[in-house]
Amino acid sequence: MSAKKPSVTIRRGTPADARGIRDAHIASIRGLCVTHYSQAQVDVWSSPRPLERYRKAMTEKGESYFVAAQGRRVVGFAAWKDEELCAIYIHPRVAGQGVGKRLLEQAERDAMRKGVRRFRMHASLNALPFYRSQGYRVYRYAMHPLRRSGITIRCAKMTKRLTKTGCRLSSA
Ligand SMILES: CC(C)(COP(=O)(O)OP(=O)(O)OC[C@H]1O[C@@H](n2cnc3c(N)ncnc32)[C@H](O)[C@@H]1OP(=O)(O)O)[C@@H](O)C(=O)NCCC(=O)NCCS
Repeated sequence: MSAKKPSVTIRRGTPADARGIRDAHIASIRGLCVTHYSQAQVDVWSSPRPLERYRKAMTEKGESYFVAAQGRRVVGFAAWKDEELCAIYIHPRVAGQGVGKRLLEQAERDAMRKGVRRFRMHASLNALPFYRSQGYRVYRYAMHPLRRSGITIRCAKMTKRLTKTGCRLSSA
């Protein structure tokens, strides 16, 4: 008999989560972005970043991180700063179970509490239906450079006005 998997909880990310965040980031790109991008693009995009980059994003660059955790394992994360949603990536093993939506809502609530009234982001094309379902709209398409590799990916610039409607303010 297999053990029941622990439920997924959302909490703030800390520098101690850097490795788990990186693992989920890589698995997400490789598992979920391949539908819309070439293998060469996915390879560059998912090549491992130094753990220090994630830590510095939190401690020096001022990005606010939330992680989705299943037991001790990080299975997704979101990051935002100012009006920018910097990242949201879900491990394929929990995709399609509402985890991305919970992370996005938590980031939106956190931003609103800090006075942010609008989010923008560069959305990957595979994520368009997700963002649309959460009220974001495309205002332009653009090519996004991948880490000075000379390789670019086509993205949609999306935006949404943040309102308290339907938002439960939680204390995470
Ligand atoms: C995009 C992503 C974050 C979505 O996370 P997820 O946990 O799978 O999405 P959820 O299960 O929370 O879905 C939330 C809503 O989006 C909709 N949705 C998600 N993916 C969808 C798809 N491919 N097609 C249609 N609808 C989709 C769901 O139906 C759901 O709608 P509902 O709120 O009406 O029920 C996830 O697929 C991912 O990490 N993708 C790879 C990384 C990536 O592209 N990140 C974005 C970088 S900009």
